[in-house]
Amino acid sequence: MKVTTAQSAGFCFGVKRAVDQVYEQVNDKDSGPVYTYGPIIHNDQVVNDLKKRGVKVLESIEDLDTVPPGTVVIRSHGVSRITVEKIEQKGFRVIDATCPFVKRIHRVVEKQSADGFHIIIIGNDRHPEVEGIKGWCQGPVSVVQCAADLDKIPDLTEKKICIVAQTTFNYNKFQELVEKISKKRYDISVLNTICNATEERQTEAREIAKSVDAMIVIGGRHSSNTQKLFEICKDECKNTYFIETLVDLDSKPFQSFRHVGITAGASTPNKIIEEVQKSMSEKSFEQMLDESFKTIKNGEVVEGTVLDVKEDEI
Ligand code: F3S
Repeated sequence: MKVTTAQSAGFCFGVKRAVDQVYEQVNDKDSGPVYTYGPIIHNDQVVNDLKKRGVKVLESIEDLDTVPPGTVVIRSHGVSRITVEKIEQKGFRVIDATCPFVKRIHRVVEKQSADGFHIIIIGNDRHPEVEGIKGWCQGPVSVVQCAADLDKIPDLTEKKICIVAQTTFNYNKFQELVEKISKKRYDISVLNTICNATEERQTEAREIAKSVDAMIVIGGRHSSNTQKLFEICKDECKNTYFIETLVDLDSKPFQSFRHVGITAGASTPNKIIEEVQKSMSEKSFEQMLDESFKTIKNGEVVEGTVLDVKEDEI
């Protein structure tokens, strides 16, 4: 079995930066108790490891009233301006680990909406990153995830519109929606804020999925970028499997695959990817043994593994 692992699999720059910042705070005695505002990434293994080191996850501003003051790390998705202000007002120190690419969107929507633009965010309204972006707008904002959502936005004729995207949004879908909005002849400025890391990961995953018998997509169940990777791979390769860790992988179907591809979402630690890769490589080794066994029998195909062969048969 040949195994191809995407080079872009695993932590992106922004996630690595955010996770590193939490560990830095944990190791800094002056930080006091360390909290993250929401899980630092959509990965249970990392969140549980931090929990063991005393890092608590705060889910809301109200949670701040139930814990002693300390350091709150804002995750890479970012939060609204008002959230940062409230955390500070309650006497907590804020370490803003918002990914710089998301921070850039905050700056753009803040400025453009202050200049009178109606902001359209192409993304998932319920995703924390989009909630955070909305929280930096100084005026009206609409969120569009699919063509049907376009009917819900108000008539924007005569208005200036600024379109941005959730960083992990699918690039092709973004282009389609921008085209549809453009047909309405609005006065539009478009900023493609889809992160390169996402685009590269999606393109590479699609290319690999086209050429393999099976594709393994590794990532947290709640990670939207992993779910999108899964959709993309499934479109190209019907044998696509979504797993969180090696434990979820049912190895039975893999006996018949000759070439397997592996990719992983932005919040998947390297350790988990390596475990899956190693397990697939071990399968390759078992297959190799089976194949060499058949070669030894010189055309006489014998079912079973090398372990079934009695010494005098060889
Ligand atoms: Fe940032 Fe891109 Fe990752 S926006 S968090 S580097 S996917």
